[in-house]
Amino acid sequence: MGVFGGAKFVVISLLVIDQVVATLGHAKGKREETVDTGSCDAFTGTWVHDGSYPLYDPSQCPFLEKQFDCLENGRLDKGYLEYRWKPAGDCDLPRFDGRHFLSRLRGKRLMFVGDSLSLNQWQSLACMVHTAVPEAKYTLTRVAGLSNFSFPEYGVQLLFFRDPFLVDIVSTSTGRALRLDSLQSAEIWEGVDVLIFNSWHWWLHVGRKQPWDYIQEGDKTYKDMNRLVAYEKALNTWAKWVDSSVDPSKTTIFYQGISPDHANASDWGEPKANACLNQTRPLAVSRYPAGPNPAELVVERVIRSMTYPVHLLNVTYLSQLRIDGHPSMYGLGRRRMLDCSHWCLPGVPDTWNVFLYQSLVAHSF
Ligand SMILES: *[C@@H]1O[C@H](CO)[C@@H](O)[C@H](O)[C@H]1NC(C)=O
Ligand SMILES: *[C@@H]1O[C@H](CO)[C@@H](O)[C@H](O)[C@H]1NC(C)=O
Ligand SMILES: *[C@@H]1O[C@H](CO)[C@@H](O)[C@H](O)[C@H]1NC(C)=O
Repeated sequence: MGVFGGAKFVVISLLVIDQVVATLGHAKGKREETVDTGSCDAFTGTWVHDGSYPLYDPSQCPFLEKQFDCLENGRLDKGYLEYRWKPAGDCDLPRFDGRHFLSRLRGKRLMFVGDSLSLNQWQSLACMVHTAVPEAKYTLTRVAGLSNFSFPEYGVQLLFFRDPFLVDIVSTSTGRALRLDSLQSAEIWEGVDVLIFNSWHWWLHVGRKQPWDYIQEGDKTYKDMNRLVAYEKALNTWAKWVDSSVDPSKTTIFYQGISPDHANASDWGEPKANACLNQTRPLAVSRYPAGPNPAELVVERVIRSMTYPVHLLNVTYLSQLRIDGHPSMYGLGRRRMLDCSHWCLPGVPDTWNVFLYQSLVAHSF
């Protein structure tokens, strides 16, 4: 177990982390497990330097997309690659074990559903698993919005379905309607064993980047709406679908959590800095100066109202600390358009996947 302490200790923290991940599902007393997060709150902690990181060599991950491959795009500082998340208190996250992950997922389909932050996490997971079994055959296909990374020998499919709003956008004679109460794409997710949902960033787009002309809810239409309010309505549509249509004994559902951006350096008390440009170290603070992300509170509220035990990957805070983790000028927009939303790979989404791994492994399925 090396730096992660004795085996017994790791097993204990596995269980506790699972309890932390599962906490939200208990709000209505549907399950009476006792939740004792005790001295281990896995989503609170600090980033520590660990020379055994990163978890993979991006040059050995042939399908890593250019937009996330910061080293290939010329990033020279490498400190950002060597941080490990250290939960507060008496616990450590164990290291990702790709072989173990594949054996637990044998015969299963796992699908990320959402925007390019889902793509970011899916790419990270594919690189992490491929690195563990570099000799194992894989196939990679992309048809319309569905990307499919498969290991035929293990019968494991790691899928990504692009669906940035989760609810539908429908073309009508009067323009493109964002329908807050309609969820047609759900048929693509049906029967998938593990689903990891994410949506938020596209709700903020205005002007040319906004892919709808008006919002529709029932027979009411709106020119626009407070975006957090619209987001909450859409998430409630999603929540109703999950509660009424998905069988918890067959499907494990995660919500990826809100991935914070670092477009505004005042958020972390450096008003003179140009967003995430040239940041090389995580914030060493015990509270993010701008506080929680408002969308994060919406997600918590919606999940808490559900009867389905959705597991929240509560990654917002730990990612808020990583002002150094974005492609910045080593992304697709180069200097012209700094990318302070996505994450370099290897990087922060690898840790999101360690949480995903932990939670799946701690579940018997
Ligand atoms: C998520 O993590 C943050 C930071 O550790 C914490 O303040 C918040 O209560 C957590 N949310 C849930 C639902 O556990
Ligand atoms: C993904 O690819 C594998 C291997 O080619 C294939 O068997 C499987 O049906 C594909 N999955 C989906 C959902 O298209
Ligand atoms: C950021 O780093 C680049 C590359 O090292 C350098 O050319 C540039 O002057 C720096 N910009 C700022 C604002 O410090």
